[in-house]
Amino acid sequence: MEKTMPKNFLWGSASAAYQIEGAYNEDGKGLSNWDEFVKIPGKTYKETTGELAVDHYHRFKEDVALMAEMGLKTYRFSISWPRIFPEGKGEVNQAGLKFYEDLIDECLKHNVEPMVTLYHWDLPQALEAEYGGWESPQVVDDFVHYATYVFNAFKGKVNYWITINEQNIFTNFGWMNGMHPPGKFNEEKLYYQVNHHVFLAHAKTVLAFKEIMPEGKIGASFAYSPSYALDCKPINAMAKMDFDNLKNYWWMDVYAYGRYPRSAYTYLEKKGVAPVVTTEDASILKEAARLIDFMGVNYYQTSVVEYNPLDGVTQFAEMNTTGKKGSGQITGEPGVYKNPPNPYLATTDWDWTIDPSGLRFACKEITSRYDLPIVISENGLGAFDEKTGENEIHDDYRIAYLNAHIYELMKAVEEGSEVWAYCTWSFTDLLSWLNGYQKRYGFVYVDRDEEGGSLDRYKKDSYYWYQEVIRTNGATI
Ligand code: BG6
Repeated sequence: MEKTMPKNFLWGSASAAYQIEGAYNEDGKGLSNWDEFVKIPGKTYKETTGELAVDHYHRFKEDVALMAEMGLKTYRFSISWPRIFPEGKGEVNQAGLKFYEDLIDECLKHNVEPMVTLYHWDLPQALEAEYGGWESPQVVDDFVHYATYVFNAFKGKVNYWITINEQNIFTNFGWMNGMHPPGKFNEEKLYYQVNHHVFLAHAKTVLAFKEIMPEGKIGASFAYSPSYALDCKPINAMAKMDFDNLKNYWWMDVYAYGRYPRSAYTYLEKKGVAPVVTTEDASILKEAARLIDFMGVNYYQTSVVEYNPLDGVTQFAEMNTTGKKGSGQITGEPGVYKNPPNPYLATTDWDWTIDPSGLRFACKEITSRYDLPIVISENGLGAFDEKTGENEIHDDYRIAYLNAHIYELMKAVEEGSEVWAYCTWSFTDLLSWLNGYQKRYGFVYVDRDEEGGSLDRYKKDSYYWYQEVIRTNGATI
C-alpha cells in the first residue's frame, strides 16, 4: 500500500483475563461463572479449563516485554471482575487490584497504551448464585459499582475503556444455545431481558465514566458480522434487512442511538419475547449513546442471508469446535432468515468464513450509519500451528490473513472511516472458550496443549511481520 495509517494509529493486540491469566483461585480471587461452568462434563473441548490457562498472571512481565520488543502501540486486555471483587461487590481484593496496577504500569513503562475491557465474560460466581447474575436487574448497580471503582483506581493511567465484550455472543450462547454459562437453552424472552440488563449496565457505566474521566474514551465491543443478501430476489433482500435488525442493529443501535430498531422490536413483541423497557431505561440508554466515543468491533467473518421458511433451520445447530472442516451446520430464524455458506469465500478449519473485504464493509457501514470513530478490538485467524524442531513457527497463512484484513482496513480509512485502533486476536496463544488450546491465534506461540506443557513462549513468523507493519505504520501492507 502506498499510504500509511494516520499518525498515532494504535497498532494493537488483544486478550481476555479468563483465556490467559490462570491463577483462578490465587491471591484472593473469587470464582467466576466460567470457573464453575467448565466443571460440567462435555462443555469444553477436552474438558479444558482456565485454571492455569497460559499463566499470564505469573508471566505478564515476560509477555509485556515481548509486546515492547515488537513495538506494539496498544494492548487490549480485560479485568476479571471476581479478581477485584471476589463476591462481585463489597470488599475489594487489594492483591487483585495490584496485579492489574502492575500490568498497567509495565505497559506504560514500555509505551504500550493499555486498553481495558471491563467485562469479557467472567462474572463473579457469587452474583450468579445470589440472584442469577445478568438475569436480575440488581446486576446493573453491582456492575457500575465495580466499574466505577476501577475507573477511580486507574484514572490518569488508562485512557481507552471497553465496557462489555461481545454482548451479542455471550448472551446468545448463555441463554439460547446453552454453550456458555449459565447454559440455558432457548430461553428467548429471558435472553432479550438479560440483554436489556447488560445494555443498562453498559449505559450507566458510560455515564459514571464521563463524570470521572471526561476526557477518556469509552465504547462497547460488538461481534459484528456484516451481511450480504444471497441474491437480489426480494425475499432474500428482505431477509438480509431483518437479519441486520435482529442480529446487528439490535446491539449497535442501542450503543449508538440509545434505542432498539423498531421493526425488530415489533417482531419480538408479536412473538412475546421483547424486553420490558421503562421510560427511565429509555432515557438512560439515550443519554449514554450521546456520550460513547467509538464503536468497538470484533470482526471475524461476514454472513450470507437467505429467506428461511417457517419449517426451516433453527439456531440450535452443531457448532464446529474440533477444527474438523465442514462439521458446522447452517443456522437461522424460522420464517425470517438463514445463513448459508458463501460459495465465493474460503473458510478456516473451524468453518469461519475468511472475508477481508468484510472488514472494510463493516467500517463503512458503521461510518454511514453511526458516524462514530471505530476501534477494531479483535480480528484474527484461529489455526493449528506447528512448532519446528528449531522452535520456529511458520504461520504464513496468518500473515496472509492479517495482511489482507489490514489492507482493507486501510482502504476503509482512505474511503472516509475514522479508525483509531486495530487489535489482532491475540497476542499470545491462549485458551479458546470452547475450542481448547489447539485453536491458536497468537503472534507468540505458547508451549501448551490440552494436557499441559512448559508454557514457554516462542515468536512466530507473524510476530516479526507485525513488528515491521508497526514500524512502518502500515507501509509494508
Ligand atoms: C471472540 C471473543 O468471540 O472471538 C474471544 O471475544 C474469542 O474471547 C475469539 O476467543 C475467538 O473465538 P474462538 O471461539 O475461536 O476462541
